[in-house]
Amino acid sequence: MSTTTTPVPETVGDPPTIPGWITWTLRVLAFPLAASAIVQPIVAGLFVTGDVAMLLVHALVAVFMALASLSLVVAAVLYWRPGRGSGRLVLRAGILFLLVAAQAVLGAFRILELHFPLAFVVAAAAVAFARWSVSPAARRAEAGR
Ligand code: HEM
Repeated sequence: MSTTTTPVPETVGDPPTIPGWITWTLRVLAFPLAASAIVQPIVAGLFVTGDVAMLLVHALVAVFMALASLSLVVAAVLYWRPGRGSGRLVLRAGILFLLVAAQAVLGAFRILELHFPLAFVVAAAAVAFARWSVSPAARRAEAGR
């Protein structure tokens, strides 16, 4: 009688994931921020063509963007700890907040030769952040941390 040994497969558990409330917090902030960055040039177009009330809307949306991007920094810290996600997200969120803050300051001081082009950078960065927040990579915790 021969004995056969069946190889025991290595047990691989589910990959560690970020708690859902943290990824949802990121999304709930990132999507309205991206939408605001897309809406801002439309609002600007309206006030430069004569609808002066739209300047107030532009300023209020800017305040919202500053608060949302600052909250994203807090959410990114939670993503890192206790979420066990990549700490690089704190840097990315911090840069996004600084871009929005710089954009608001340039607008308030009417430095339009920088305010116009920076709007594209802000919009691209905000849309990229929102897209990333719904990607599978955003759910992945760093193993062994
Ligand atoms: C992307 C995000 C943007 C933010 C956060 C932002 C923010 C601001 C802020 C805070 C002001 C000062 C408002 C006030 O003094 O009441 C301003 C002014 C202005 N913004 Fe923006 N802005 C953005 C995008 C844009 C875009 C895309 C355009 C045009 C293509 C634009 C055109 C202007 C103009 C023309 C002014 C000066 C208005 C005036 O003469 O009083 N902004 N912006």
